[in-house]
Amino acid sequence: MTVAAIIPAAGLGVRMKTGTPKPYLLLHDKPLLAHTLRAFEISPEVSQVAVVVHPEDLDHCQTQVIDPFQFKKVLRLIPGGKERQDSVYQGLKVLRQKEDLEIVLVHDGVRPFISPDHIRQVIQAARRSGAAVLGLPATDTLKRLNPKREVVETINRQEIWHIQTPQAFHPDLLWRAFVSAYSRNFYGTDEAMLVEQLPHPVVVIPGSPFNLKITTPEDLRLAEALLLLLEKQNHADRFRL
Ligand code: C5P
Repeated sequence: MTVAAIIPAAGLGVRMKTGTPKPYLLLHDKPLLAHTLRAFEISPEVSQVAVVVHPEDLDHCQTQVIDPFQFKKVLRLIPGGKERQDSVYQGLKVLRQKEDLEIVLVHDGVRPFISPDHIRQVIQAARRSGAAVLGLPATDTLKRLNPKREVVETINRQEIWHIQTPQAFHPDLLWRAFVSAYSRNFYGTDEAMLVEQLPHPVVVIPGSPFNLKITTPEDLRLAEALLLLLEKQNHADRFRL
């Protein structure tokens, strides 16, 4: 039985004027995406990785990320779609052709610090329940605001978790969730949301605050500091190429 991962990394194309897309930004001289793929390359449970990239970046990704770092589990690069959900769907269409696919994982290409331990834990939970994601309980006080940025209410944070990736699913369940979402023209911010709407329960496994999603320039600076710290703590084999 195979566990395979879809890595959506099909943000803006390199030729667009907004600069280098996030997956190709350098973190200690290596593209962010290469750090992310390394975690899956060294995860014993994962045997295949489908990387979804912007159609304009297929060559760039192959020559700047896949070839130099010799990722053996990356079966092919798949052209992505307009929204993140469309990109993951393209990856799923390719992976589900495999007959022995047991679990499919989805992990943001821009979360470079995912650990093989957390990958294993989310796979095990999905084997039991069909759908599992990583998350962290909210620690800040949470308030809902109106458009004038006035507080409308304070939300009970005991019930709130920040959801990360990887998210792991039985492939048929995820496929049904996508078919259902597209039939309603629904777009979610993660794959679990589509599964929730089937409905089907989604289990949350405690993740790590290190599993940063690189979204802003400040996140990249944090990531640089975090990588130094992890290297100092001898975590280098896990996270360095
Ligand atoms: O936009 P967001 O920050 O949620 O993106 C999360 C991941 O999804 C990134 O790795 C990004 O490259 C990817 N993505 C994609 N296809 C899109 C948009 C985003 O694969 N159309």
